Amino acid sequence: MKHESNERTSFDKSKSFEPKIVAFLCNWCSYAGADLAGVSRFQYPANIRIIKVPCSGRINPLYIVKALYNGVDGVLVSGCHPGDCHYISGNYFARRKFALVKKFLEYVGIESERVQFSWVSAAEGVRFAQIIDKLTNEIRKLGPLTYFRKGSTCKGDQT
Ligand code: FES
Repeated sequence: MKHESNERTSFDKSKSFEPKIVAFLCNWCSYAGADLAGVSRFQYPANIRIIKVPCSGRINPLYIVKALYNGVDGVLVSGCHPGDCHYISGNYFARRKFALVKKFLEYVGIESERVQFSWVSAAEGVRFAQIIDKLTNEIRKLGPLTYFRKGSTCKGDQT
């Protein structure tokens, strides 16, 4: 009878938790890498939902925050390797933006490991599968993102 309500409401890491992860992939490299992983039947967790974008440099950091706010537990942004961006320097802009996003998340109290950035080429299906596997395992260990949920210390949307 002791602490029964606490046991129900607190997150039990021993129970299975399947995170929801959004992956923003650039059309020219990372999306093709994901496609190659699928065509080659490389196994990776089915926790990701892919959003194809023209270039990783086109991703507004607010997309990431909005995804977390709307209930995903992690976000991956993936683009072409340095020097391979089809828009010359989009991936360099992306790298700078996401370094700032990670600092912002740390500042507000969200684990920055929930947002990761990677380079994946169209020929790296295995690498794509490995990145998704690693990211999913890391977010499983972190547990669900509760920061924006009712009852958290966050003030939430005050608009
Ligand atoms: S086109 Fe792939 S990162 Fe720019």
